[in-house]
Amino acid sequence: MTSDRRRAEARSQYVHAVGEEAAERLAIAGEIYLPATTGLLRRAALAPGMRVADIGCGTGNVTRWIADIVGPSGFVLGVDCSAAQLLVAQAQPTASTPPRYRQADVRDLSALPHDFDLVLARCLLLHLEDPAAAVRQMASLLRPGGVLCSLEPHVPTWSSHPAHGAFTRHVDLYRELLRLRGGQPDLAPTVPGLFREAALTQITINVAQPLLVSARHRAHPALTTRECGPSYLAAGLIDEPSLAELVRGLESFADDDADTTLCAGLAFQATGTKA
Ligand SMILES: C[S@@+](CC[C@H](N)C(=O)[O-])C[C@H]1O[C@@H](n2cnc3c(N)ncnc32)[C@H](O)[C@@H]1O
Repeated sequence: MTSDRRRAEARSQYVHAVGEEAAERLAIAGEIYLPATTGLLRRAALAPGMRVADIGCGTGNVTRWIADIVGPSGFVLGVDCSAAQLLVAQAQPTASTPPRYRQADVRDLSALPHDFDLVLARCLLLHLEDPAAAVRQMASLLRPGGVLCSLEPHVPTWSSHPAHGAFTRHVDLYRELLRLRGGQPDLAPTVPGLFREAALTQITINVAQPLLVSARHRAHPALTTRECGPSYLAAGLIDEPSLAELVRGLESFADDDADTTLCAGLAFQATGTKA
């Protein structure tokens, strides 16, 4: 990796691992939020032949799904600031026309084409210090009449029923780390306001709350805590023995604690149209 790329990754202050290390957790998160994502994109009239940009595309889980829909007559560009994420994305098999990928930071998208029919950001804005500026940058990529789509999880609404100590601790730690890194765990319901500020019109909002049902999905909290563990320790949010105990507590959801109902954070979905 070049020193420029390394600097770009350090600047992003992203709380998660990137590349192969993050691919499994990101794939699971993508599956958890897939029904809400496909509903959002269908409401935005995603169709064959469209030009679509997926900003903060990560390992390309949604990017590939979009490429299958727009088909060979369309064009899909996955954009991420992390070279490691894009390497994993590019290595994934695709059913039809593969998406293109490009490394860029959402804070400056001026070098990208500015004629997209649809621009998507999924699970990106909550990681940013200035989500309003990011929304303006993404809106600038649209042709007149193009649609900006956002899906953001509302971190405080990840919940367990009956309330489970390990799960509550996991959500609290994740919220705190996001805040320390300049992110916005509570951002999701404010996105329509950001769309209005960016002069988008015909704004729509929907909310869905996915459940973690399969053992694979119920492994997500433990995977997240294992991945963010070094950052929790470095920030002094937890000590090593408590972290190990927390991971063990969270692993029990996938193994033998199916009686606890686990809810993912509310998925706020917004669309806005460029005048
Ligand atoms: C939680 S992942 C979501 C990935 C993908 N959208 C999905 O839903 O599967 C957030 C992604 O945003 C990227 N990211 C974080 N800050 C960014 C920035 N300033 N510019 C571009 N991408 C950024 C990260 O590298 C990561 O791949």
